[in-house]
Amino acid sequence: MERLYLGTNTKMYKTIAQTADFLTQLEALTRDLPREDLELFVIPSFTALERAKACAGHIRIGAQNMGWEDEGQFSGEISPLMLREVGVDLVMIGHSERRHVLLETDEMERRKVACALGHGITPLLCVGETGEQKELGLSDEVLAAQVKIALHGLSPEQAAQVRIAYEPVWAIGVGGVPATADYAAQRHQGIRATLRQLFGPDTAARIPLLYGGSVNPENAVELSRMPDIDGLFIGRSAWDAARFNGIIRDVLAARQP
Ligand code: PGA
Repeated sequence: MERLYLGTNTKMYKTIAQTADFLTQLEALTRDLPREDLELFVIPSFTALERAKACAGHIRIGAQNMGWEDEGQFSGEISPLMLREVGVDLVMIGHSERRHVLLETDEMERRKVACALGHGITPLLCVGETGEQKELGLSDEVLAAQVKIALHGLSPEQAAQVRIAYEPVWAIGVGGVPATADYAAQRHQGIRATLRQLFGPDTAARIPLLYGGSVNPENAVELSRMPDIDGLFIGRSAWDAARFNGIIRDVLAARQP
């Protein structure tokens, strides 16, 4: 069976105590699940990372952002060395809110991806078109450009260490409308085609592609069963441990042969 990735980014919502509470519950609820084909991950705020690592058990912990230098005059940024110091080996790069609220560019995401790989940290690169780009029929071009810039210059071996989350901007967060399973699968096929063009078919097949944007208990199973969707990256519907556990179990049950 293909490996399945299910994770959540808690955005700027959980304090250290809330993160620890959430992870302790989620770990207990999911402890019995077979791990060979499943990776669960949680991406909390920087301040909660160290406590999160201590409560996580089998759940992988990631950071929400990272600077692209080891150190320097970058007030407010966190370096890869600082993430490694707290045992973090996964980092989200280029989330829609970083790109559209905090004005990060594709070139910044490229530097971060390369820097993370150089430090043995798995980048989870987020890409997605805006509603306007979708209306103009530009979705696949926009996604291809985001992927090509962010992964520019990587060898196939390096690219194979990257994960990509497709998160349409119009689907994310309060007021977002989830993509239909067909629409999401078409965009995933387009991203996979771009990866084949850049790195060849073997590497392209190894890069996990996750869908994110208003995933909820009603649409998670259908989305997770689409071709080229290797996992789900969930916000609001995963912030309650019991609710997230319910989604995880539904998705797993639907994958049984
Ligand atoms: P949402 O968030 O599931 O609450 O839409 C998704 C995300 O921002 O990654």
